[in-house]
Amino acid sequence: MNIRHVISAMSLLMLTAVCFNTAMAEKIGVLMPTDNLQKRWFNHDGPVLKDELEKLGHTVTVAYASEDDVMVQKKQLQQMIIAGNKIIIVSPVDSASLSEFMDQYVDASIYIIAYDRLISGTEKVDYFVTFDSADVGKKIGEYVVDKLKLKEPEAQPKNIEFMNGPKEDSNSAVLYASAMGVLAPYIKNGLINIPSGEASLEKTQITAWSKQFARERMIRIIDQKNYGPKGEKLDAVVCLNDSIGRGAIDALTRAGYEPGNYPIVTGQDCDKLSVKSIWSDVQSMSVFKDSRRLAAETAKIADAVSKKKIPSLNRPEGTFNGVKNVPTHILDVEVVTKENVKEVLIDSGYYPASTLDSFY
Ligand code: GAL
Repeated sequence: MNIRHVISAMSLLMLTAVCFNTAMAEKIGVLMPTDNLQKRWFNHDGPVLKDELEKLGHTVTVAYASEDDVMVQKKQLQQMIIAGNKIIIVSPVDSASLSEFMDQYVDASIYIIAYDRLISGTEKVDYFVTFDSADVGKKIGEYVVDKLKLKEPEAQPKNIEFMNGPKEDSNSAVLYASAMGVLAPYIKNGLINIPSGEASLEKTQITAWSKQFARERMIRIIDQKNYGPKGEKLDAVVCLNDSIGRGAIDALTRAGYEPGNYPIVTGQDCDKLSVKSIWSDVQSMSVFKDSRRLAAETAKIADAVSKKKIPSLNRPEGTFNGVKNVPTHILDVEVVTKENVKEVLIDSGYYPASTLDSFY
């Protein structure tokens, strides 16, 4: 074989590689539920997912629904379809809001992967990749029971209030049921009081997981019940995510609480601001959902779909969305407190060390 043969053999190989890659590359659309700068979606999920999919050779467009707007997300989905994306990864603003639209416009050639939140009421969703929300709620409930020492023989009655996600997000009901499942026996035996009397998902839900709405609700409850460092004792505010926790904390601060005497405030997501707050002894804990793992799993599933393969899932029997069982992959979660925040979030490279610089 002379040098010319070697060169043409190499060119053929390169050409085959290019063709092979192009054949495998897919146009993939990603829809995230909000463009809020303080939340996980804009900072982690969106960019990391794009990166993972691009590493696998795909062409990716990401769109963020401005401030949790259902109409905006519908338009973005429409644009993704018109632009010819054959795989669309969607984290819905509202789990039920896309069903009619999807029934009408998503044809059999398009695969839909529900990301983090389930899309309910439609046949057109193919896969669901998420974190174990039941475990998030359980871990939050157990943390509160533990910190309030409710299992000890000399346990004293405690006052707590609840702040849940919106009922439009399928994760909210799961979180609520599992957190309540842990706390209910103590409500029943009188060790937990909910002085506002607002305990149902309906009454305690915060629209769009909004910090502002959580703040307003907490201010109203503080005023009604006269909670404060010098007023009625409030032992815990069970907040089912970090943005809600930040709203509650704003209201508590306004009522005179300071680092060292805040009630227990829980959260979920490990948003950067809430991590600072944990480090500064204001928020007590959060639950870490490592978007890097969620993105990597989702990218694997999308990649398998693009190659017409069946993705490997750990819950293939699926999650019922009201119409069908959607084959599911579920990831585990981790409690973060001041004790392990450095190890879990800084040492693992999720946030830079400066996240723990003084804040307050
Ligand atoms: C939920 C999700 C939480 C949190 C919340 C607010 O669906 O499970 O991790 O991010 O949305 O956006």
